[in-house]
Amino acid sequence: MRPLAILPSVLAADWTDMGQSVKKVMAAGADIIHLDVMDGHFVPNISFGPDMVKAIRGITDARLDVHLMIAPADPYLEAFAKAGADVITIHPEAGPHLHRSLAAIRQLGKKAGVALNPATPVTALEHVLDELDLVLVMSVNPGFGGQAFIRSSLEKLDLIRAMTAGRDIDIEVDGGITAETAGLVAGAGANWLVAGSAVFKGGPEAYAGNIAAIRKAAQLARGEIA
Ligand code: DX5
Ligand code: ZN
Repeated sequence: MRPLAILPSVLAADWTDMGQSVKKVMAAGADIIHLDVMDGHFVPNISFGPDMVKAIRGITDARLDVHLMIAPADPYLEAFAKAGADVITIHPEAGPHLHRSLAAIRQLGKKAGVALNPATPVTALEHVLDELDLVLVMSVNPGFGGQAFIRSSLEKLDLIRAMTAGRDIDIEVDGGITAETAGLVAGAGANWLVAGSAVFKGGPEAYAGNIAAIRKAAQLARGEIA
């Protein structure tokens, strides 16, 4: 089984104190920081760009997982790579040449991911499996934190687990992940679990307990604890 990771999405952090939010959530047991980039065009919301990634890179050694909900993505790949992203994930709808975009991310020395919206079929991955380090299954429609988990993503995770078997590819799930849904997605094959609201709720004193609850549910489903 591929290693389990819990990835807080800073969309739900306290933006008036972003540096401390990131440091505290890492100290509370998070594995990787998930950064949601939104352009108000590919998704109906605007978040932040490479400068925020660079600022966060400056205050932590944590791996940075950058989820680009922008179209086009190609003109910005280099900026996010230079800003300090470790993983760059794009949506197949963001441009006409997914294979070329993934190759470009790897040429920049970064891990390359593809994100599938709830309605995007897994066949979008079929011919780019060799160019992939990560598949991100959206379990909500991208654009906002705090939405309800879409259950059809479980079936999709199952299909992707079969499709990527034996390959060096992590399976990430993003949207509506809580201590209640974490077991379901881990049982269906996800090993990177993104959570925004469920990690940051209750403020810094609650981060460790929130992360532990998600991790425990996932570990139970993976048979790592009883
Ligand atoms: C949604 C983003 C998610 C979001 C998840 O477009 O990709 O990463 O922050 O938030 P929660 O965990 O609150 O659903
Ligand atoms: Zn995301």
